[in-house]
Amino acid sequence: MRSAEVLDCHVLVIGSGGAGVRAAIEASGFGETVLVSKTIAGKGGCTPMAEGGYNAVLREQDSCETHYEDTMKGGAYLNEPGLVSILVAEAPQRVTDLLAWGAVFDVTDSCTVAQRPFGGQSFPRTCYAGDRTGHEIMMTLIERLASTGVEVFSEVTALDLVRGNDRVIGALCLDGKGKIVAIRSDATVLATGGGTQIFDISTNSSSGTGDGFAIGYRAGAELIDMEMVQFHPTGAVYPYDARGRLITEAVRGEGGVLRNAAGERFMAKYDPDRMELSTRDVVSRAIATEIQEGRGTPHGGVYLDVTHLPRQQVEERLPVMLEQFLKFGLDIREEPMEVAPTAHHVMGGLRITPGAGTTVPGLFACGEVAGGVHGANRLGGNALADTQVFGKRAGESAGKSPRRSSRIERGAIDAQEERLAAFLDGDVPPSIVTRSLKTAMWEGAGIFRTEKDLKKTLNVITHLSSLRLLARTEENLTECCTTQNMLLSASLVVRGALLRKESRGAHMRKDVVQTWDARNSPYGHTYQSLERCGIETVVRA
Ligand code: FUM
Repeated sequence: MRSAEVLDCHVLVIGSGGAGVRAAIEASGFGETVLVSKTIAGKGGCTPMAEGGYNAVLREQDSCETHYEDTMKGGAYLNEPGLVSILVAEAPQRVTDLLAWGAVFDVTDSCTVAQRPFGGQSFPRTCYAGDRTGHEIMMTLIERLASTGVEVFSEVTALDLVRGNDRVIGALCLDGKGKIVAIRSDATVLATGGGTQIFDISTNSSSGTGDGFAIGYRAGAELIDMEMVQFHPTGAVYPYDARGRLITEAVRGEGGVLRNAAGERFMAKYDPDRMELSTRDVVSRAIATEIQEGRGTPHGGVYLDVTHLPRQQVEERLPVMLEQFLKFGLDIREEPMEVAPTAHHVMGGLRITPGAGTTVPGLFACGEVAGGVHGANRLGGNALADTQVFGKRAGESAGKSPRRSSRIERGAIDAQEERLAAFLDGDVPPSIVTRSLKTAMWEGAGIFRTEKDLKKTLNVITHLSSLRLLARTEENLTECCTTQNMLLSASLVVRGALLRKESRGAHMRKDVVQTWDARNSPYGHTYQSLERCGIETVVRA
């Protein structure tokens, strides 16, 4: 047996994206805070990769009521209304925090924060820093974090939460050398982000493996709406190694248009009012339909064209897009891009209260690992706002938790060590399992779904989960753990998709005939925990 290191803190934050770092900054005002990150803190996760922007009501002509209604409508009314009210009310204050800490957003001629349109908005409310908004926010947060006393452990992976007396009392983690680090805490915040790496084509970095969904589930937390996976309409289709890479919605916000191979501006058929700035679920299905029906481009996408825009606008507002495509050998000022949908965001996640508490005492969740804010389809620009609003709330709630005298028992560490030891004696390298999983999820649980395909996918996941994963060295143990997390997350997505026998937002069941629109759906959240699973029904007067 290896000797485990045991640490103690008031608040433990797991995850170093925008939500986790915001939570840690807030919690640090209440006591010793530890942040663990499986990547180099601030470099992994989705926030630094987020391009387009942050939604907030900043102008008199806009209102929180409109932001609320846009968000609910975009989310097919599956969103938790109370969480949405908090999001829209507090997003502007959290921008103010970022500005005070030194974030540099683009500004108008009168030096106010500039805003641009994104899909599903009735007012252009997306604040931005060119097309590297998330990077700007993340760098600001990391600098701010450095001025707090938060102890940061980079490249330390959370394995599981520890429960004692019916509450979470910390976590067991694994360092890069295969050594267990046990961290006892009075309160724990899960901020591990999303998990669309379970799909073959994804915008997520390699760290988007759904660890928090799996860790939360195993600790007894309830997850809602896990079937709600957003496919961003515009991912790169070539070169092959760049497949799925995010082509920001800001391209369409700046006036980019979509055309099929015949040159037709096809969004006129799917949403003539909002066209390219329809919501992501609608645009993704439109693109997928054009491709499936044979109107796709040579590389299997559709065209996204900004060649009609002034060159200066492209250079100043979309510099990352310009540079990235130049590297791929294409000048987007002169030629259209080719794009296709890519798995981007999980709307479902741990059920949370307005204070970011989960269904398990002592455990809080924020950012993409939490469910309920975005309903069945997230509006572009609402995720960065979510990280700041609920990151702060989670950090504050965790910080205010009472001090406790809990202790991590040796038995919990022994059980985790046994789990790890089994990997050293396994048969199948994790990369083989994840390849099969990604293919199965893309083919059977993607944009269009049927019960038959979902059941087939679940069978594949069950089979893959039965294999004995192999770690050739102690350094490979983390990969085995994340593979298990991917399998569990995928099964939650598929089981949720089987539970929801309706089409709503991002979840399109081709085999269901339905007579209601989203607002009048008889269904509420799907829910899954160790204790129960099902779908809520809504009684209408
Ligand atoms: O398209 C984008 O820039 C992505 C933004 C988002 O997911 O909020």
